[in-house]
Amino acid sequence: MSTVTTPTESTTAALLAEKIISRRARVGVVGLGYVGLPLAVEFAKAGFDVTGIDLNQEKTDLVNRGVSYIGDIKTGDLAALVQAGKLEATTDFSVLLELDTVNIAVPTPLRKTKDPDMSYIDAACREIARYLHPGLLVILESTTYPGTTDELVLPMLSESGLKIGEDFFLCFSPERVDPGNPQYQTKNIPKVVGGVTAACTEVGALFYAQALEHVVPVSSTRVAEMVKLLENTFRMINIGLVNEIAIMCDGMGINVWEIIDAAATKPFGFMPFYPGPGLGGHCIPIDPFYLSWKTKQSGIEARFIELAGYINGQMPHFVVQKIQNALNEHAKPLKNSKVLVFGTSYKRDIDDVRESPALDVMLLLERHGAVVSYTDPHVPSIRLGNRQMKSVGEEEAAHADCVVIVTDHSSFDYAKLVERATLIVDSRNALKKFQSPKIVRL
Ligand SMILES: NC(=O)c1ccc[n+]([C@@H]2O[C@H](COP(=O)([O-])OP(=O)(O)OC[C@H]3O[C@@H](n4cnc5c(N)ncnc54)[C@H](O)[C@@H]3O)[C@@H](O)[C@H]2O)c1
Repeated sequence: MSTVTTPTESTTAALLAEKIISRRARVGVVGLGYVGLPLAVEFAKAGFDVTGIDLNQEKTDLVNRGVSYIGDIKTGDLAALVQAGKLEATTDFSVLLELDTVNIAVPTPLRKTKDPDMSYIDAACREIARYLHPGLLVILESTTYPGTTDELVLPMLSESGLKIGEDFFLCFSPERVDPGNPQYQTKNIPKVVGGVTAACTEVGALFYAQALEHVVPVSSTRVAEMVKLLENTFRMINIGLVNEIAIMCDGMGINVWEIIDAAATKPFGFMPFYPGPGLGGHCIPIDPFYLSWKTKQSGIEARFIELAGYINGQMPHFVVQKIQNALNEHAKPLKNSKVLVFGTSYKRDIDDVRESPALDVMLLLERHGAVVSYTDPHVPSIRLGNRQMKSVGEEEAAHADCVVIVTDHSSFDYAKLVERATLIVDSRNALKKFQSPKIVRL
């Protein structure tokens, strides 16, 4: 992009820029999960020698054997890069001594109290600080509250005595990857990057520009951190709004899906969001609370976030209530009824069950005495409370008192489902094309 320039002022920056442009820079990625592995693959594809670092030896062994454990990365692609010597993985952080760049993509969950859990960033940065050397570019990608890079990471790295913007470089670049999205992947999602100093931003933007299609430099790490929180808060609140509209429509006997489809015909000023069984995944239910936690320190309450969090959190209860009511209409109590859950991952066509509302729905159903089973082609087994459950076949729908569609995987045979089941609660409008008295929509 035209906004990406080559650093000229600091000698170290210029040397690093030259290494980046010539592909002699050795690239590191800390945390080889849904974000880190695709990033490592993209830089290896762009011609860099890439080393992934992860605490989990199972993952580093798989990478070194060229076996992918991330849906968006094909084993064939990974194996080719490993065989060509472009990508390797290790659990040993001392490799940082040989690296020129390091991206950090470790988890940022919430503690039980809904406060940010910074322990993963803290641990990864302590290791980086230990092996920090002149000419290293460090980029934090984990989603976090504004100020993390400046207030938490920079002091750790500065303990070395090396000077930021001159001896080493530090940026924040939010990760926007959307697992399972066939259209937008790491390479073609525009990459926002902000550095601690102007030289940091320049070298960070130059680095990404080698492997990714669009780079968007911004003026500071705080701006880059806040961009991600705006995006995810926007999504969380709009889903909260549409979930509340769904509850209202249910009370008034109006089909909320029809309303949204019709409203979406407005060519400006409206963007459709869809209701569902609740929020899931590692981002939308969590990230906004990083913002509300931080902003509370300045005496500002994030009221929209709290409210949307409450409404979204009610959705699994609402779905269970719908199941209970639907069974009651068939003169069956929920207690001892067989309920089969279709789909347990937090969204369509992926295998990630982190924060999935399906888990809440299943636990609530069990608490009401229902006999719960599930089917999910992407999730062969699942931990529910203290026990492990295995996915059953879709044909089990014929033996269930009620089927609930929690995740609308595209491989499900919905026509067969409508044929087999006696009662279906559809929380995703997966059965939009079907008309049957068996179907109860959200
Ligand atoms: N998954 C997504 O769709 C997505 C999208 C955008 C942003 N993010 C953000 O990206 C970050 C990473 O998310 P993810 O989904 O890739 O997580 P993940 O759990 O899939 O992967 C994180 C990896 O980091 C490793 N790890 C943990 N601590 C480590 C340490 N100290 N040193 C080295 N490795 C360590 C773990 O073993 C794991 O392999 C989070 O902040 C998340 O919010 C995720």
